[in-house]
Amino acid sequence: MSVVNFKNIDDICLIEINNPPVNAISAEVRKGLLKVVIELEKNKKIKAVIICAPNRTFLAGADIREFGKNVDGPILSDICNRLERLDKIVIASLHGTPLGGGLEVAMACHYRIATPNTKVGLPEVLLGIIPGAGGTQRLPRLAGITVGLEMMLTGKHVPAKEAKNNGIIDEIIDNDDTVSNGLEVAKRLISNNSRPLATCLRNEKFVNTEETKISIEKIKQKFALKHKNLFSPHAIIQSLEDGLNLTFENAVQNERKLFADCIKSHQREGLIHAFFSERAVNKIPELKLGKPKTIKKIGVIGGGTMGTGISMAALNSGFSVVMIEQDQNGLDKAFEKIVGTYDRNINLGRMSNNDKDSILNNFKGDTDLNTLSDRDLIIEAVFEEMEVKKDVFKKLNSICSNETILATNTSYLNVNEIAEVVSSPDRVLGLHFFSPANIMKLLEIVVAEKTSNHTVATAFSLAKNLKKIPVRSGVCDGFIGNRILSKYLVAIYHMVEDGASIYDIDRVIREFGCAMGPFQVIDLAGGDIGWATRKRKAPYRDSNDRYVEIPDRICERGWFGQKTGKGYYLYGKNVPFLTPNPEIEKICEEERNRAGIKPKKFTDEEILNKYISSLVLEGIKILEEKISIRPSDIDVVYINGYGFPRWRGGPMNYADKIGLKNILKHIETYEKEDPRFWKCPELLKKLVANNTLFRDLN
Ligand code: 3HC
Ligand code: NAI
Repeated sequence: MSVVNFKNIDDICLIEINNPPVNAISAEVRKGLLKVVIELEKNKKIKAVIICAPNRTFLAGADIREFGKNVDGPILSDICNRLERLDKIVIASLHGTPLGGGLEVAMACHYRIATPNTKVGLPEVLLGIIPGAGGTQRLPRLAGITVGLEMMLTGKHVPAKEAKNNGIIDEIIDNDDTVSNGLEVAKRLISNNSRPLATCLRNEKFVNTEETKISIEKIKQKFALKHKNLFSPHAIIQSLEDGLNLTFENAVQNERKLFADCIKSHQREGLIHAFFSERAVNKIPELKLGKPKTIKKIGVIGGGTMGTGISMAALNSGFSVVMIEQDQNGLDKAFEKIVGTYDRNINLGRMSNNDKDSILNNFKGDTDLNTLSDRDLIIEAVFEEMEVKKDVFKKLNSICSNETILATNTSYLNVNEIAEVVSSPDRVLGLHFFSPANIMKLLEIVVAEKTSNHTVATAFSLAKNLKKIPVRSGVCDGFIGNRILSKYLVAIYHMVEDGASIYDIDRVIREFGCAMGPFQVIDLAGGDIGWATRKRKAPYRDSNDRYVEIPDRICERGWFGQKTGKGYYLYGKNVPFLTPNPEIEKICEEERNRAGIKPKKFTDEEILNKYISSLVLEGIKILEEKISIRPSDIDVVYINGYGFPRWRGGPMNYADKIGLKNILKHIETYEKEDPRFWKCPELLKKLVANNTLFRDLN
């Protein structure tokens, strides 16, 4: 069977595209489709054409793996134009997720029908490109300029009902059989003598008026901040705006040119790396060997920041949740926070009172751990203290059956040590959520020495049900994300003590594309958290390691950031965003004097090099120690948990891009100044010597 098959049923031609898993429009698909279109151009008997696709979805877009490669094959844009010009009615029979080029093919057809669960979209912007097969011209003609632009600038998947209201879909048919749907509609349209209606000729919603200009301006402003560092959203707007003054053919050619510019960009490469990396996380050895257990009932211990977030994440995905707190007061506070979050969502129109009631029906709080005896999985989120956690796990050992999976949400503590207090440690693992846990997508799945394959498989299946992105991590201090974070914060404090300005560092890292600078993040999370960790680790600190006391001086003053109104920045009703705390620079000076350091100036480039080098240095050690099984997993952690710019593809991908030789050169220079901190990993030397990249290890 070829990827494009067609058969004529009387005067109807049925085209089926079969390129599993998602019917991506590869060169083979394009060749096959063009061949059929050429046949149809010559065929006078056929009156209607149906395009559909078996498997799980109609065409989910261009084959992204082909981007940036020299692939032979016709251009999708040309095929769409020829399809649209056919003198027979062309019907797209949609199901699943017709996205990108898939929706572009559908929009070039003359009639679109869909099953009720279909979702359509032009998500090219998420890959750093623009729709390149007429999408920027046909979508606004069908849905209008505002809706079309919003769809293209967000990449969102629009449900069939909304798409029908917007004019993208003509009919929703409540039957999953897309072939019979197509045949039924084709016969009806033929018998009604319907004529092909080319989208390119439908200009009623695509007019260049003063009102149009105002709408486009409004949308530009709405997305200005979100898209400030990005290239493709601006190209999308440009393509549409240019199209208002061009003939359709010229507009499509112009779109092709902008599409080609995007394909060449680094942002496209970084975003597509992120796309595939987020799918690669599921390829781990344990999943081949383990069988996931069904999880329905979840227990959460601790109703603080994380316990409430984790409970909501589970409740939102339909799990039954029992939360345990130390006392009634703790439970009341947790309940208030959870109800408050749902009420806010109701006020924002994101959910209804009924949704809230049915979610809360699945939720129960208690102060007695014994209530957890029937749970399939328990997630502990109590204080970050080993003895407190061990005590909880010892009690769980006697309360729960040996089948119950026991997880800790610890940020740094040794999961092997926690597992030891349980009679069957094979069912113990770390589930490291990120705050706010009901929102953040990342979930580090920490596999301890004795964790079984079944337990790991269950955790990955749970992540899928929670709509999280799971990343496998081994056990070490801070796992993948927090371990790297600790390292680069130390490197940054070294820079500050050596003379760099805290505000320059934040600015440079923001300008690099991170959502916030590290000192903004500390102020947001609360400086006290890091302070407590530093105090906990103080007895084990090697006296030969360089230790910068600046953050301790700040915490000693009770300046914990946003929650105390003062940290590295000032906070308050009338205080402008990012107002530096005027006393910080003086504290830095005093500390430099105390440490006997003569401050030097840092250029933006020096700041950035040190920041990136420290991230990559720890990333390589994590790979050497097999804490992470591939560099792209580290990228996924940094993009989804730490605000690293997605369009840079994560720190390891960025290192590949700037050249491992350059990273090695920086690290070797820093090593001369501070050999303990910057000791150069053998793996990096080996990769450079062999002229290989991190991507070769993925
Ligand atoms: N090209 C190549 N491979 C693709 C692909 C694509 N467009 N979309 C998905 N795949 C692959 C995935 O990498 C994965 O491979 P793996 O099994 O080897 O890991 C497999 O298909 C299944 O994908 P998912 O695991 O993501 O499956 P889901 O069912 O969870 O999601 C989906 C399906 C919603 C279609 C999701 O895969 C998706 O969003 N895909 C990307 C869609 C997209 O961005 N389309 C636009 C492409 S650009 C374009 O069309 C340009 C045009 O304007 C010219
Ligand atoms: P928190 O201090 O906000 O909440 C802890 C809660 O646990 C408190 O409400 C406390 O009353 C309760 N508790 C303590 N002992 C208990 C016991 N024996 N039984 C029942 N309840 C008990 O702390 P937070 O921030 O929620 O952190 C919890 C865990 O999650 C820690 O291990 C932390 O390291 C980890 N974590 C924290 C993140 C964060 O951003 N805050 C992110 C990821 C992990």
